[in-house]
Amino acid sequence: MINFKELATEFQTPLYVYDFDYMTQQFNALKEAFRGRKSILCYAIKANSNLSVVNHFASMGSGADCVSIGEVRRALLAGVPSYKVIFSGVGKSDDEIREAIESDILYINLESEAELGRVELIAKELGRVARISIRVNPNIDPKTHPYISTGLHANKFGVDLNRAKRMYILAKNSANLDPVGIHFHIGSQLTQLEPIRESAVIVSDLVRSLKVLDIELKFFDIGGGLGVTYKDEATIAPYDYAQAILSTLTGLDLTIVCEPGRFLTANSGYFLTKVLYEKQNGDKRFVVVDGAMNDLLRPSLYNAYHKIEAITASQSEPSKADVVGPVCESGDFFAKDRELPQLEHNDLLVIHSAGSYGFGMGSNYNTRGRSAEVAVQNGEARLIRKRESFEDLIALEKEFLPSAK
Ligand code: LLP
Repeated sequence: MINFKELATEFQTPLYVYDFDYMTQQFNALKEAFRGRKSILCYAIKANSNLSVVNHFASMGSGADCVSIGEVRRALLAGVPSYKVIFSGVGKSDDEIREAIESDILYINLESEAELGRVELIAKELGRVARISIRVNPNIDPKTHPYISTGLHANKFGVDLNRAKRMYILAKNSANLDPVGIHFHIGSQLTQLEPIRESAVIVSDLVRSLKVLDIELKFFDIGGGLGVTYKDEATIAPYDYAQAILSTLTGLDLTIVCEPGRFLTANSGYFLTKVLYEKQNGDKRFVVVDGAMNDLLRPSLYNAYHKIEAITASQSEPSKADVVGPVCESGDFFAKDRELPQLEHNDLLVIHSAGSYGFGMGSNYNTRGRSAEVAVQNGEARLIRKRESFEDLIALEKEFLPSAK
């Protein structure tokens, strides 16, 4: 049991706390599900890109799925070997492509014909052969929140099957491209297995038809997306997930690459925020806290549910309240109409499932420094990111003030 009160006193609030032992368990559970098959878990570091978190997964043998060259650099800095780093994303700049090729990463996931052209040209300029994989958009509805659905043709991600095939033929005939993998990722927070299985069927059929053309791929990259429980959602068991995928690969000798983010970190994380005060507008009750949408955006952006635990001496009957932050937006809330007891100044709220897409989607809106981050491992807590100070926030601007000249 993590002693949140002690952590809040020691490190102050707002604060992110991550249970590293939980991350280890999740990683091992997923790795175990693919046992007996060649597989690489490439942690999707966008979910939580703190260097110590990435290092924790690297130490267990994880690779990294990256979506910018900044993430590639983070992964390498945190100890992920370059041969386990993959680089995805619909828009990569020439500089990013150049650096990725020079860093000799496992492969670049291509998301358009135009991108194939750029990567080929840059590899040629560098006198290198770029290992590539192609992200296929299987046009399957993943049945998740529309903002995090990616596997439909209406979404900007990947290429359709016919295009993918043409691209593989181009790559095969290019002296500067080596097509080594195939990729699909239909969405995030997936709680139903069928769309994943259907996608794997479609994509593995494409692998078979490429074999006929003498294009032999090595990596079958199934993306990420495994959902987790925020409230009471039923999710997919890792074993069922692995079996559904593996059942589509009979006769193919492929290494599975999986890019889990949320599954590994979401429920490892807690966001700690203190109550400033309560207020009432007419009949409406608000609990105003010191954390805000700039710290944890998911409720504002997706209307996402995060469980909130109140640590308080209050014995009062719970009643409905909105939990809101100090930011100047009505969208600045963590929960609406949540049952909570009467709260006092300095009572602590623990917001659960905050380990993925929490800190990383934070901002400095309203000149608020981002929270500190703390790791808890084997019963010990340690700081893994300092709280941002006002000086940090203005560091890149203050030299431009007339008074500074
Ligand atoms: N691979 C690719 C290519 C991805 O785009 C993503 C997530 C992942 C792997 C990891 O997906 P996961 O296992 O975490 O579901 N901010 C949103 C989620 C955005 C997901 C973006 N892509 C949220 O807070 O729900």
